[in-house]
Amino acid sequence: MPTGPLRLPSTTFPGRRGPDPAADEPTTTPHPLPRLVPADGPAPLGPSGPVGPSGPDGSDDVEPPTTTVVPGPSDDAADDAGERERLRTRAERFSPEDEVLAAARERAAEHGIVPVGVGAAAALTFLASAGRARAVVEIGSGAGVGTVSLLRGMPREGLLTSIDTEVSHQRLTRITCAEAGFGSGRVRMITGRALEVLPRLSDGAYDLVLVDAATVEYPLYLAEAVRLLRPGGVVALDNVCWTGRITDPARRDAVSAALRETVRAVRTDERLAPLLLPVSDGLLCASLLG
Ligand SMILES: C[S@@+](CC[C@H](N)C(=O)[O-])C[C@H]1O[C@@H](n2cnc3c(N)ncnc32)[C@H](O)[C@@H]1O
Repeated sequence: MPTGPLRLPSTTFPGRRGPDPAADEPTTTPHPLPRLVPADGPAPLGPSGPVGPSGPDGSDDVEPPTTTVVPGPSDDAADDAGERERLRTRAERFSPEDEVLAAARERAAEHGIVPVGVGAAAALTFLASAGRARAVVEIGSGAGVGTVSLLRGMPREGLLTSIDTEVSHQRLTRITCAEAGFGSGRVRMITGRALEVLPRLSDGAYDLVLVDAATVEYPLYLAEAVRLLRPGGVVALDNVCWTGRITDPARRDAVSAALRETVRAVRTDERLAPLLLPVSDGLLCASLLG
């Protein structure tokens, strides 16, 4: 499920952010051979470089010195990649979930719903708490994992508006909220298509918007979310890595295209401060400047 770091498809990005940082990387990675250095020090220099040991008769019939492999740059890169992967795994498991969310995940699986991942759920609680989010919109109620994660970070007086096309999913979300101790007064459920519901919500009135519904509609959800946010408010879009598929240029399906468009829009919109959190399947965040 976790994927590698998000790599964006183009090398030039309009707007103040300038060129894609990934473009600074060489297009071909050199693969030098590991350097061999005798354990007891460097070999003596001959006329054209180090010379190997030789016996008294000039032959190589002597016990070779013990050698140590000094990692070259490609080994370092592999070590770095391994270390980053270990860090990602640790981050994903860093905030363990309780039985309420575990039960919600089981219900989600039974109904074919893919809830936000464990790392993304922890990030949502953090974002709601850090921003003291009182007014939150969730696009895609699902089984209520995201809902409860958000509510746990929100202050007591906060109200979460959760939108979903499926009444049955909203019923599951109610169950998850009730099991987590959140009464119906904390959640306003609206059943309907997000793109029909969102235009009815007020401009600049929300602290946090979670996007986790129809992926092909992400660019339109983003535009609506930015309209809904107050300055300093945050939009969080789940699954932007799409299990690595958007980094594959061969993928030209509608979902991959919509996600690439969304990522590009977040990175280049001068009104936003973008942040890609490498948790779960990629949680793309942006706060509204001003
Ligand atoms: C990935 S699930 C959301 C999971 C949820 N965040 C959680 O953690 O449990 C996506 C949800 O979006 C809903 N959905 C799909 N298309 C939608 C649309 N156009 N408008 C509103 N909801 C939609 C689905 O019914 C589904 O419940």
